[in-house]
Amino acid sequence: MDSATIATMKALMEWEGQRKAPPPGFPKLPDVPAARYTSAEYYALEQEHIFRKTWLFAAHLDEVPEPGSFMRWNNAGDPIIIVHGTDGVVRAFYNTCRHRGAPVVTADKGCARRLVCPYHAWTYKTDGTLVGVPERQDFVDLDMATRGLIPVRCEMFGKLIFVNFDDGATSLRDFLGPIAEEWEEFGFDKLRLAARHSFDLACNWKVAMEANMEVYHVPFIHPETVAPLVDAKRNVNHLYPGGHGRMLAPPPREMQRESVRALENAPNWTAIETVGELGRTHTQSYTIFPNWVSPLSNYFVPPLIFWPTSLTSTRLELITMAPDWGDGEAPDLWTVPDETSPSGRAMARLIQEDTQFGEAIQRSMESRGFRSVPLSYQESRIYWFHQHCDRMIGVDRVPPDLRVEQAIGAEWVSPNDPRVALMEQNAADLAMTG
Ligand code: FES
Ligand SMILES: [Fe+2]
Repeated sequence: MDSATIATMKALMEWEGQRKAPPPGFPKLPDVPAARYTSAEYYALEQEHIFRKTWLFAAHLDEVPEPGSFMRWNNAGDPIIIVHGTDGVVRAFYNTCRHRGAPVVTADKGCARRLVCPYHAWTYKTDGTLVGVPERQDFVDLDMATRGLIPVRCEMFGKLIFVNFDDGATSLRDFLGPIAEEWEEFGFDKLRLAARHSFDLACNWKVAMEANMEVYHVPFIHPETVAPLVDAKRNVNHLYPGGHGRMLAPPPREMQRESVRALENAPNWTAIETVGELGRTHTQSYTIFPNWVSPLSNYFVPPLIFWPTSLTSTRLELITMAPDWGDGEAPDLWTVPDETSPSGRAMARLIQEDTQFGEAIQRSMESRGFRSVPLSYQESRIYWFHQHCDRMIGVDRVPPDLRVEQAIGAEWVSPNDPRVALMEQNAADLAMTG
């Protein structure tokens, strides 16, 4: 971020802290229909038109580190394998043998020069090509060239591996848009995978995710964890094309972030030296459509990923990526040791605070006591996300009683930001009257 942009962001944060109403011209957000969280019909539309058509974070290169490494990946439903080819290219395939559909890979992870189906030993190269069929003479006219593993789009941002089930989708880079550039300072090509754990939650994936898409709740449910770091009143939200969003907030005036950091016991944190001023001194968090939320700082990139496992259940992945921590213990921002849990880990306090109401909210939503959701200007990232859900599905496909209005116009979407002109006008008015 250049120094002029940093100055504008700082001024905007101050302006947000002082405004007495939403910015003039910002639309009143119509209620979000309750059934978007409880309708099997809407869930099916999400599955078909969102999760099958957008880029999804699947893995970190450290999980398939060398040529021949592979891993299974089932978070989006279909059985997939991610394979680091012997030619160095990382690819994704359906884990489905082209003979009779057996899984080609049965281990969660491994390393091999060839992938051999355990059923009848059809054999594939790591680029998916079918190269071996036992008793081939008994198959009449079998064209092996057309029987390779079926690929799934797979592209990387630094060491992060994303997949997309839509062969016609735009590139990952275009999908990220201006965010790809904003993320350059975080060195995604150098970050190691430090921790990856998952937890099952008893609520719709949007209920779980929306707890991480606004800072309105921070003073109330995080008085001791987040509130000392984030001045929620001076938070500024940015909306990006494609349903993405960002929050940026300074620390409270009375407590500086560095002093908070010093209180935390973090013996082996390494800083990402290229991170600029705001990443070092402020809190920012990016929502990447549809299911990634991550604060990014000069110490960590720790995404929370929300996978729908049914209409009313979610798998929450808690991931920490960090610069090389040497031989010390790998940092894990979101989980803590817990001997009583099967995985040996439990959600850290901050995550427990954010997930505590999910199950009860889901039950409320299924009761007649829940009608619709009024969202404030501060919660505009949530509304923007819903707008984009309907756009991905196709607004006309969404039954009218489940739709959200496309209320937020392009004039509020980055790089447009009417608040900058409003703020400058305010300052000019003040100078005139002063
Ligand atoms: S199902 Fe894979 S070889 Fe027969
Ligand atoms: Fe929170």
